[in-house]
Amino acid sequence: MDGLRERYLSEIAAATDEESLEELRVRAVGRKGEISLRMRELGKMAPEERKVAGPELNALKQEITSALMARKSEIADAALDERLRTEWLDVTLPARSRPSGTVHPVSQVTEEVTAIFADMGFMVAEGPQVESDWHNFDALNIPAEHPTRTEMDTFYMSHAVDQAHPPHVLRTHTSPVQIRAMKRLGAPLRVICPGRVYRADYDQTHTPMFHQIEGLAVDRDISMANLKWCLEEFCRAFFEVKEVQLRFRASHFPFTEPSAEVDLRCSWEGGRLKVSEGDSWMEILGSGMVHPKVLRAGGIDPERWQGFAFGIGIDRLAMLKYGMPDLRAFFESDLRWLKHYGFAALDVPGLHRGLSGAA
Ligand code: DAH
Repeated sequence: MDGLRERYLSEIAAATDEESLEELRVRAVGRKGEISLRMRELGKMAPEERKVAGPELNALKQEITSALMARKSEIADAALDERLRTEWLDVTLPARSRPSGTVHPVSQVTEEVTAIFADMGFMVAEGPQVESDWHNFDALNIPAEHPTRTEMDTFYMSHAVDQAHPPHVLRTHTSPVQIRAMKRLGAPLRVICPGRVYRADYDQTHTPMFHQIEGLAVDRDISMANLKWCLEEFCRAFFEVKEVQLRFRASHFPFTEPSAEVDLRCSWEGGRLKVSEGDSWMEILGSGMVHPKVLRAGGIDPERWQGFAFGIGIDRLAMLKYGMPDLRAFFESDLRWLKHYGFAALDVPGLHRGLSGAA
């Protein structure tokens, strides 16, 4: 029995993994193991012999079983130590290298404008860039023969036009999103609609694709006074100045009545724009009270609701605020230009910490 014990205990001590321990367990104390077989032989022994051999075998079985368990936990501890030694992570390393791209000024300004209007309770709505000419024109009180259709230098989509396929255009402004938002959301409503628009035009201040942001507020008893306050607040926040002076100049848009173009007091001294100084006025947007026909086209009863609307050129705002002289450069993807005028990739504009990061 002593030989048995020594053999197993030394084999257990020499085992280095769980599988060989298990194999040892089966061989020693398993159902057909060496010690179990010996125990089965107890029955054939003389009673005196059995009295001695029985307890000894039991004690041996217990000793081997606990040696197996002790070795098993030693092996598990060693395995854990090994994992802790090899599987480690330096959490002080930076997660990523610094982003090398920049945010395009158009994206930056879109975010800035959106942040300002979101703060005033406007939600963002979007519409398709390939738009039905009903949404782009008719619904906005621009009938088929209206001169605006040609003034806007519209790009038409070429496809067969019939009852089932009315004509489509590349939208010439973001105003059709007003119609979609009214239909989808009903009154009351406050939305802004940023996006791309298209016109066949190309010079220093015009590109065939550019960006607008449309604003629309519909509620009871909305007036030009609400429009004026809203636009003044917007300009103060956007140009990051305490005061602005706006001039509402009577104008005409088919979709608003009355209509006003809005000019901002500024100076161009030294070639740089200064808001609220000097004697120059610069046109920044078109606006007005939503025409009753337009409300009706959006499924809203003009007897019960009024609204104001405005449309701003995003690229133009960007040029003014960040002093970029030529619009065409916006869309040339020149890396030097993007590095110079672009914004840090992880700098998200927000009202609480200054829109452009300069404040
Ligand atoms: N849609 C006009 C344009 O592209 C801009 C505009 C003017 C939008 C007046 C409006 C508005 O909502 O009320 O020139």
